[in-house]
Amino acid sequence: AAEPLVLGIETSCDETGIGIVRGRTLLANAVASSMDEHARFGGVVPEVAARAHLEALRPTIERAVADAGIRLEELDAVAVTSGPGLAGALMVGVAAAKALALSLGTPLYAVNHLVGHVGADLLQGEGLRPASGRHGAISTVGELELPTVALLVSGGHTSLLLVRDLIGDVELLGETIDDAAGEAFDKVARLLGLPYPGGPHIDRVAADGDPDAIRFPRGLTRPADLERHRYDFSFSGLKTSVARWVEKRRDAGEEVPVADVAAGFREAVADVLIGKAVAACRDLGVPRLLLGGGVVANARVRELAEQRAADEGIALRIPPLSLCTDNGAMIASLGAQLVAAGRPPSGLDFGADSTLPV
Ligand code: KG4
Ligand code: ZN
Repeated sequence: AAEPLVLGIETSCDETGIGIVRGRTLLANAVASSMDEHARFGGVVPEVAARAHLEALRPTIERAVADAGIRLEELDAVAVTSGPGLAGALMVGVAAAKALALSLGTPLYAVNHLVGHVGADLLQGEGLRPASGRHGAISTVGELELPTVALLVSGGHTSLLLVRDLIGDVELLGETIDDAAGEAFDKVARLLGLPYPGGPHIDRVAADGDPDAIRFPRGLTRPADLERHRYDFSFSGLKTSVARWVEKRRDAGEEVPVADVAAGFREAVADVLIGKAVAACRDLGVPRLLLGGGVVANARVRELAEQRAADEGIALRIPPLSLCTDNGAMIASLGAQLVAAGRPPSGLDFGADSTLPV
């Protein structure tokens, strides 16, 4: 059978993503972001994100269709993120997907956002291999081998998955019990007077700091915590610890060594993220680790992942950054897998589920 032509719609957070794939081939990946609109609030405002999706969906679909050089009538299926994410934002995408599928008479597939991040790794296309991006190539060459551990880290989620089968056997090993790692980056950046989103700014400033000058706490890594939360994360204590450290200096009228604070904070986050992911690989006897989500842009996270993966004989995969941040192509990719496997479509009765399990 011919490879299915699938359009994917992603609206779980602040990116309106429309992707078009033919099987594993990426044809278009159009993304509109409402990030700038959230900047003055220091974080994503759900209501603002939902409205922005409503406005961006049509032009973004048109752009993707033009980029792919297809007609909507040719689509074999539509896929959409039904969760997890912001309820209102998800609803806009789900409603749009239903309308599109209904008007075209094509099957509709509901897809899990987190599993979508893993599906991004399947995609091939011009300029995608080897992995491009600011920090050079970390290979995502060749087939994705399963099972794999997947660490997904963004402003909205921090999850560790065990993926045995992309479309049917994905297990949540752990997740953040409070803030997402990207959220922690954004909050600490704000504290240090850096712009939103803070991740890239902390990363830049930290490059001039000493990561060992200040040791900030690693959440949920004490033996007592590991028993219950071996693969879970916590970043709110770290954020508070950074805030206290900075306030103490400010109150004393001392200058805050911003670069050292940023470096120490970044080190603490990277250490826990990669430490727990590598521990999962070791514990489960799965020598494969896939990274996804916007925080994967972080230079220290990438560096530590490379080092520890090499030390432990773990094959590391990092898709290009354009496929790590939220996008519609990863949703289309999973949709294409579902079509190719002959899975029945989801119908038109499903809703958005902000806490959808994997
Ligand atoms: O995947 P993404 O674009 O989606 C959302 O969560 O919306 O991730 C954005 C998050 C933000 O919190 C941002 O601060 C963080 O990823 N981020 C970074 C870096 N680049 C983006 N965090 C740390 N270091 C970076 N270089
Ligand atoms: Zn995401």
